[in-house]
Amino acid sequence: MILVLLGPPGAGKGTQCKRIIDKYKLRHLSSGDILRSERAAGTELGKKAQQYMDSGALVPDELIIEMMVAAIADAGWNCVLDGFPRTTVQAARLDDALKSQGKKIDAVIDLQVDDKIVATRITGRRSCPKCGAVYHIETLKPKRQGWCDNCIDTKLVQRDDDKPEVVANRLGAYHKQTAAVVGYYKSVKATVFDVRADGAVDDVTRAVFNKLASLAA
Ligand code: AP5
Repeated sequence: MILVLLGPPGAGKGTQCKRIIDKYKLRHLSSGDILRSERAAGTELGKKAQQYMDSGALVPDELIIEMMVAAIADAGWNCVLDGFPRTTVQAARLDDALKSQGKKIDAVIDLQVDDKIVATRITGRRSCPKCGAVYHIETLKPKRQGWCDNCIDTKLVQRDDDKPEVVANRLGAYHKQTAAVVGYYKSVKATVFDVRADGAVDDVTRAVFNKLASLAA
């Protein structure tokens, strides 16, 4: 099964993906997480991506597509995509790559949240640099303030691109380049589920699972 989770920065894509992979036994492939690992490892790709990520711009399509198609193949074509595709070019190239393998996207979930809400979510986000667990200072607190629940001795950090001025650029890039991806999927008659994602985490999960249940029916 291949699922795509779309939505603005801070919509809760990563948070919901963690729950989807547990239930559906899929690999979670976050393009942002993969790029951050490449940066941490100091690879050529990571170095090229750095300036774009730091400013809140999208990394060029040609750097992303090959990286993500390889990751999807490595996951045995059984995954939930978080943050990819983010342009209509990426979406079309992904479709081509899947078609060449006799595969297709089973469903696209579009998490819809207003800009004001996502800005609050992003600025309050804290994550574990070791296991990647994501928390929020108000809505998803760790048991011990500032420390990861899973990696007990690891201090939570704020992502560099979660500063307000960079967040504004990321939202701009979303509206200019990524919002059209939903229209692309509707135009090629993919299964697209629109989900309001401004409620509590559990409510959004329930709505997502309800939609996904209709796939199996
Ligand atoms: P990426 O890492 O993909 O960032 P993003 O899309 O901006 O998404 P976020 O990780 O910020 O948010 P999310 O929706 O996962 O929300 P989360 O669940 O964490 O990309 C980073 C950069 O990499 C890009 O700017 C770009 O440069 C580059 N890049 C990546 N992919 C690319 C691509 N395909 N093409 C080109 N460039 C690419 O939740 C956020 C917070 O809210 C958390 O604290 C969480 O606890 C909280 N929260 C979640 N849900 C709720 C809820 N329902 N109620 C209350 N709080 C909630």
